[in-house]
Amino acid sequence: MSKNLGELSGRKGLIENLFEELGVAATATGAVSKESAEALAQKFLFGKANVYGAATFYDFLRPENKGKKVYVCNGSSCMTAGTQDRLLDKLHTEFKAEEIGEMCCLGRCHENSSFHYNGRNYSGNDIDNIEAIKDGKPQEMDKYNVAAYGTPVLTCDFPGIDEFYKTLNTALALSPDDILNQLKISGLRGRGGAGFPIGFKLESCKNTPGEIKFIVCNADEGDPGAYSDRYLLEHRPHAVLLGMIIAGYVAGANTGVVYIRGEYPEAIAITEQAIRDIKEKGFIGENILGSGFSYDFKVIKAQGAYICGEETALLSSIEGQRPEVRVRPPYPTQHGLFNKPTVVNNVETLACIPWVVQHGGAAFAAIGRGKSTGTKLVSLDGFFNNPGIYEVDMGTPLSVVVNDLGGGFKSAIKAMHIGGPLGGLVPVDKIDTLSVDFESFAQNGFLLGHASVVCLPEGYPVIKYIEHLFQFTAHESCGKCFPCRLGSTRGYEMVNKSLTSDYKMDRELFTDLITTMEIGSLCALGGGLPLPIKNALKYFDGELKQYFEG
Ligand SMILES: Cc1cc2nc3c(=O)[nH]c(=O)nc-3n(C[C@H](O)[C@H](O)[C@H](O)COP(=O)(O)O)c2cc1C
Ligand code: SF4
Repeated sequence: MSKNLGELSGRKGLIENLFEELGVAATATGAVSKESAEALAQKFLFGKANVYGAATFYDFLRPENKGKKVYVCNGSSCMTAGTQDRLLDKLHTEFKAEEIGEMCCLGRCHENSSFHYNGRNYSGNDIDNIEAIKDGKPQEMDKYNVAAYGTPVLTCDFPGIDEFYKTLNTALALSPDDILNQLKISGLRGRGGAGFPIGFKLESCKNTPGEIKFIVCNADEGDPGAYSDRYLLEHRPHAVLLGMIIAGYVAGANTGVVYIRGEYPEAIAITEQAIRDIKEKGFIGENILGSGFSYDFKVIKAQGAYICGEETALLSSIEGQRPEVRVRPPYPTQHGLFNKPTVVNNVETLACIPWVVQHGGAAFAAIGRGKSTGTKLVSLDGFFNNPGIYEVDMGTPLSVVVNDLGGGFKSAIKAMHIGGPLGGLVPVDKIDTLSVDFESFAQNGFLLGHASVVCLPEGYPVIKYIEHLFQFTAHESCGKCFPCRLGSTRGYEMVNKSLTSDYKMDRELFTDLITTMEIGSLCALGGGLPLPIKNALKYFDGELKQYFEG
């Protein structure tokens, strides 16, 4: 069924795109009306139920979003920072209750107090200027620390477009096989969570026959606490775009799709401008620099759904389908966007490619530790004295990140949630044990993931955080498999009941529930949630046992 819909959607492709048109249909009121949904179903021959199913899935298209004017961030970082009650109080003086909605997360985790108004994001002290913001007075972009500890692969100075795109000349003078070989030598692994080597993906797509292929950049950075992809799109968009062009040259793809979360309006605008800039200079388009290779971009604005960060849900989303996770195999490199061979990579992964081409795979492989080569961007939240984005060589001790770069904590912290909602809950006494690389985190029972850090202050009850994680997963579940769809809701109910009544949870039942989610879920949303919960049970048993029987 979803394969057929993919074919159908592919008939109009990216030029007239159902998903984009759903977004346009919701612009005036904040939701897609029944009439618009029916008209789109007719236009795309998609069937009313399919269009309705898609439109009602997304936070910014569904009927509940109608009439919203301002959105408060409800992500984990703003939550543990405790900034949102004051923010809401202030917003209630300026907006009616029904005009205030929620977004998760705006990526302003370095200073919190985050909200979205009229196509722009605000944070920190901005709320104190809400009258001026409403009057349309321009506000500055947010600022945060950016520094490298080791080799600045991604945070190095930008030399200007002409100088930077000399690497495109270098790439086009090489054969796709030569570049593929360098990428394999580099050992570059996906930065979006799974750590899969990019060379294998590109090779698989390259070897799959097909006239039409796609490179998709996954810029749906939904992990609360993470804003490293936002940093790259807003401050180093050309590293991402050039990485995509080179990836296309290797795989034989002529179109790059940048799927950017709707919660990052500034990133969308800056990326679109960067594409216009390189188009003007002839670095994209037909027969680039006389090489015979053609490439162009499409930017897709997402509509508020965490699961669209999962690569197959993301592809369904672009096709205008309800973004449900697909069973693999077949893998996207064989049957991807519109059933065509497709490589999906994270923003940071793609942004490393130009450096590899410029300096060689061996130079990249020389940075880092073991199978974790290169550098990693780490996002530090507002609990650090120096919050910001830090680029560290893989293998850098976590204590260097926390103490030397982050400057330590502003107040007492008991745990750090590293790697997004599906990452591990790291108690502070593990800081000296871990280093920033895939293996160190995995061997110690955690997950490097996106390397985002959300702190849990000393006074924040771990049980409340577990409740939040279940609730988040229940809201974001795509519903395709029952361990996640039902398990997340049942988990939330159990924890909530233990918090709001004298009910005590049955430990065996609770363990069964998270084990079922872990081993029975189709993707890493339901399958990954148990990790931080198991960490919490292991390291914070003293605090949690009062909520269990016996
Ligand atoms: C629930 C869920 C959310 C995800 N969110 C993201 C995301 O926001 N960005 C991302 O790059 N990868 C995300 N991923 C991982 C992607 O499925 C995929 O592995 C990644 O985009 C591949 O790119 P990489 O190899 O460069 O990491 C997510 C996975 C899951 C299961
Ligand atoms: S684990 Fe959750 S999000 Fe993933 S496929 Fe199953 S229901 Fe969908």
